Amino acid sequence: MITNTDLEYKGNLYPNHIVHYIRDKDRFYFTTDNGVILEITVIQDRTIRFRYATEHTFQPDFSYAIDPDARRGYNHLDIAETKTEYIIETSKVQVLVDKKTLRTQISDLDGNIINEDELGFHWEENYEYGGNTVKMGKITQNSESYYGMGDKATHSNLKGKSVSNWVTDQYAYAKDQDPLYKAIPFYIGLHGGQAYGIFFDNSFKTHFDFAHERRSTTSYWADGGEMNYYFFYGPEMYKVVRAYTNLTGAPELPPLWALGYHQSKWSYFPESQVKEIAQKFRDEKIPCDAIYLDIDYMDGFRCFTWDKTKFPDPKRMIGELEKDGFKTVIMIDPGIKIDKEYWVYQEAMENDYFCKRADGPNMKGKVWPGECSFPDFTNPEVREWWAGLYKEFMSELGVHAVWNDMNEPAVMEVPTKTAPLDTRHNYDGHPCSHRKAHNVYGMQMVRATYEGVKKYVYPKRPMVITRAAYAGTQRFSSTWTGDNVATWEHLWISNVQMQRMCMSGYSFVGCDIGGFAEQPNGELFARWIQLGIFHPFCRVHSSGDHGDQEPWSFGTEITDIVRKFIELRYQLLPYLYTMFWRYSKEGRPMLQPIVCFDQADTQTHFRTDEFIFGEQILVCPVQEPNAHGRRMYIPKGNWYNYWNDEMIEGGKEKWVVAGIDKIPMFIKAGAMIPKYPIQQYVGEKEIKELVLDVYYTRGAENSTVYEDANDGYAYENGKYSLRNFKLLGKEKELIIQQFKDGSFITTYQTFKIRLHGLPFKIKSVEVDNEEVELKAIKLNGDNSIEVSKDFTQLHITGA
Ligand code: GLC
Repeated sequence: MITNTDLEYKGNLYPNHIVHYIRDKDRFYFTTDNGVILEITVIQDRTIRFRYATEHTFQPDFSYAIDPDARRGYNHLDIAETKTEYIIETSKVQVLVDKKTLRTQISDLDGNIINEDELGFHWEENYEYGGNTVKMGKITQNSESYYGMGDKATHSNLKGKSVSNWVTDQYAYAKDQDPLYKAIPFYIGLHGGQAYGIFFDNSFKTHFDFAHERRSTTSYWADGGEMNYYFFYGPEMYKVVRAYTNLTGAPELPPLWALGYHQSKWSYFPESQVKEIAQKFRDEKIPCDAIYLDIDYMDGFRCFTWDKTKFPDPKRMIGELEKDGFKTVIMIDPGIKIDKEYWVYQEAMENDYFCKRADGPNMKGKVWPGECSFPDFTNPEVREWWAGLYKEFMSELGVHAVWNDMNEPAVMEVPTKTAPLDTRHNYDGHPCSHRKAHNVYGMQMVRATYEGVKKYVYPKRPMVITRAAYAGTQRFSSTWTGDNVATWEHLWISNVQMQRMCMSGYSFVGCDIGGFAEQPNGELFARWIQLGIFHPFCRVHSSGDHGDQEPWSFGTEITDIVRKFIELRYQLLPYLYTMFWRYSKEGRPMLQPIVCFDQADTQTHFRTDEFIFGEQILVCPVQEPNAHGRRMYIPKGNWYNYWNDEMIEGGKEKWVVAGIDKIPMFIKAGAMIPKYPIQQYVGEKEIKELVLDVYYTRGAENSTVYEDANDGYAYENGKYSLRNFKLLGKEKELIIQQFKDGSFITTYQTFKIRLHGLPFKIKSVEVDNEEVELKAIKLNGDNSIEVSKDFTQLHITGA
C-alpha cells in the first residue's frame, strides 16, 4: 500500500487540518493550517465545483471552457458541522469535507457514496517552471467503469487505462495512440448503477489514470495551474453529459444543409475539377450539399487569398455551385506566411498580433507555406481582427462555411510538432506561456472564426469546422477527428471516437469517411459510409495522393450502395435535426453508446460497437471484410429490424444478417420516425408530406419532431414547429396524440403515417373523435394512412 509518507518522500505536499471556514452565499471556503484553501461552489444541485489554492492564494478565476450563459441556481443548500467534518447538502447530493485532511466524499441523499477522495488533493512544486503540479487521487469504486475524454482512440470503457490531454497533430494515428487532436478533460464514472462526471478544467497538459497504476485509485493531475474540477451527479449518464454541456455550452442550431452529405478532398482544383465533381453528384443522383476547398485554392498557402490561375473568379464559381445546390466550404489555417508583401502578415506585424518567444522575437514555425508566424488568438483584439478577415470571403464572395485546420497549432519539422513551450500568450489578460495556452489555442482560433463567419453570413446561420479543441469548443464549431487511415481498424476507431465525443459534450462531430491516409477498397468504403451517415457531421475527405474517394470511385455496385445510404440520411433529416435541436437546447448527446441507453444492464458496460442514433434507432456497423452479418448486443426492450420489420426482444446477443448493402439497424418499438422525401440537397424540394414511420408497441412511447425554416434566426422568436407525439398501443388499439408548439407553418399539410408491426387488421380510424371513412384517409395496402398534420388524436382500432 502506498502511504502519504511514501508520497511525501517523493516530493508531494498535502493539506493538513482545517483551521477556518466561511460561507459566502453558494461558496464555501475551508482553510488549512498549512495554507491550503478549498473553495466549494454549488453551481446547480447536481453540479459542484472544487477549487484548491496553496499558500493562501488563488490564481485569477478565468476559464475558456465555461459557457458564460450556463444555467446556475439550486433548490436547496445547507451546511452542517460535526466533530470531524463539514456537510454541504443540496437537493441531489451531500458533500463531506474532512476536518483533519481536507479530503471530500460525495454521496447521494440515501447515503450511497458516489465519489470519494483517496489521497485527495496534493501537489508538487515545479522548480523548473514555477507553480505546482496539482494532483487529485480518488478511490476507484467497486466495478467502476469510465467513459468520455473526447477523441481517445481506444476502448470506450477507459477502466485500466491512462491518458493525457495535449492537442496534437497526429497524422495517421494508431489505435490506442494518445494524445490526439482534442483536450477534453471530462470523464463519466459509473458504479452501482449510478453515474457521475468530473471535469478537470485546467488547460495545461493533463493526465488521467483510471485504475491503471493502482487498481484502487483513479487520479488526475496537471503540469501547472490549479486543481479546479467540477463534479456532476447523474444518476443517469445522459444527465451527467447534460450537466457538463450546460456548463461548457452547446452550439446553436446549424443550417440544415450542414447536416447533409459533404464531399471533400485534399484538394479539388482547379475550378473545372470542382465543377466536374459537383456535376457528377447530380448526374449520378447522389445527394450532396457541400463541396470543400482544401489549402490548394490559396495563393502559395497564404490564408485569405486565392490562386487565380486555379480559381480565376471565385465569386462566380461559388454562385454557380450554389445554384446547383452546393455550398462551398474553404479551409483557413493559423500559420501566416512570413512575407512582407502579404497583407495579412503586414496587418499582423503592424498591430503586433503574432505570438512571441520568451525573449521577444516572433515565434516562427514551418507549415504549408514555409516559415510562418502565428496570431495570438488568446488576445481578444487579435480575435476581433481575425473575425474581420472573413468579410470579403463571406460577404462578397459568398463562401458558405469555414474549416480551420492545423490549429493545435501544428508545426512541421520539429519533434514537439507545435510551438515552443516558452511562446508567450495573452490568455485574455492573464499572460502565460504555451504550456498553459497550447490546449486552448485552436479553440480560440475557431472561436474568432465563428464570430467572423456568424457576422458576415447573417441573417443566415454560421457553419464552422475545427480540428483542435479544448472543452467548450462545441459552442463555436463542429469538428472532425483528423487524419485517420483507410483501414478496418480505423472504422472501429471512428465508431468509438464519435460516441465518445458525443458523451464528452461534443456531438457535432464526424470523421474522414473512408479514411484520410491510404485508400479504402470498395467494401470498406461502403461499410464506412453506412456508419458515417449516422454521424452528426457526415463528410468524405481524403488525401489526394492516395487515389480517388468519391462515391463512384469503386464501381457501380458500391456506388449504388453508397447512394442508397446517403439517401437514407436525407430521408432521416427531420429526425437528425430534431436530435440536434435536443442537443442544442438540452445538451443531450446525439449518439449514445448503449451503456448510456441502459446503464442498469451491466451487459452494456464494455460494449463498443452498438450505439443509439438519437434516442430510438439502434445501429451497429459491420467492421470486418467479407461479412454477411455480425453478432451484436440488442439492448433490452423490443426492436424492429429496419430492413424487414421483424420484431425482436432485446437483452441478448444476436446474429444479425447484413450483407454488403445493409447495416444492422433497429427501431425502438413505439417510435415514430419522421422522414422527408429524398432530395439531392437540402431545399431542393418543397416538402409536401411528412412521413411518420410508426412502430407499434404494446405500451407507451414518446416521439418528437422539431422543424423550422432550416436556416436563419426566426426560430428564436417562436417560428418553429415542435410536435410531441404520445403513442399508446393496446391489444387491438393504437392511439397517437399530438401536442404542438411554435408558430412555424410547415409546407406540408399531411402526414403519411406508415404503420409497422400492427398486430391487427384496421377496422376503424377516428381522427379527433370523429370516425373517418377508411377511403377518405387513403388506407393503403402498405398499412399507411394520410391524415391532416393538425390532428390532436388518432385512434385506430382493430378487428
Ligand atoms: C491536415 C488535415 C487534412 C488536410 C490537410 C491539408 O492533414 O488534417 O484534413 O487535408 O492538412 O490541408
